[in-house]
Amino acid sequence: MKNIKAIIFDAYGTLFDVNSAAEKCKDKIGDKWEGFANYWRTTQLEYTWLRSLMKRHKDFWHITKDSLDKSMKAFNIDPSMKNELLNLYKVLSTYKEVPETLKILKEKNLKLAILSNGTPSLLNELVKSNDLDDLFDDLFSIEEVGIYKPDSKVYDLPIKKYKIEKNEVAFLSANTWDVSGGGNYGFNSIWLNRNNSIFDNLDYKPQNEIKNLSELTKLI
Ligand code: LAC
Repeated sequence: MKNIKAIIFDAYGTLFDVNSAAEKCKDKIGDKWEGFANYWRTTQLEYTWLRSLMKRHKDFWHITKDSLDKSMKAFNIDPSMKNELLNLYKVLSTYKEVPETLKILKEKNLKLAILSNGTPSLLNELVKSNDLDDLFDDLFSIEEVGIYKPDSKVYDLPIKKYKIEKNEVAFLSANTWDVSGGGNYGFNSIWLNRNNSIFDNLDYKPQNEIKNLSELTKLI
């Protein structure tokens, strides 16, 4: 990839493992933990899109709680677990190759930033609890524009701050809809496809697909 000036990462599901909160409680939740974690994530995302369309913004922490509440009912999970799950969500683990890869990328002369639905305080805590705070130039939160991805105002944030062109951004996401959102906006979107999934039909096909974040060090 040529002429890249900034590498912008999605946070949840890309750098940080959204299933890790439920996984850490799997002894209490039992075999259904993974189905529950996927349902919670899907509901959370649906709420971001629906609230953006309804113009009824609530921040990501409130949406995470609202979606957890529905998911716990749907999976018959003891309500006493709610606080434990929420506290774990604040300190989600990274995928294992992430810290080492970010350190290698940091050596290149590029901006490194997160662009996420998360609130500024959630993003700060995630980065701090995983010892990644020295590696990023910026943690861009959609709270600055009050609407969720894939609204173009969100993808504008790093373009405006760094005064660069859209095609000078390498945008990394494991969420196919976010790859499409960033790609339709004009970023060079790279799909981090860890689970051999199928891509969306949303008028953008990423030129680059990687199975593991460490493969990025060879592309850029
Ligand atoms: C984020 C969600 C989309 O971090 O994963 O913005």
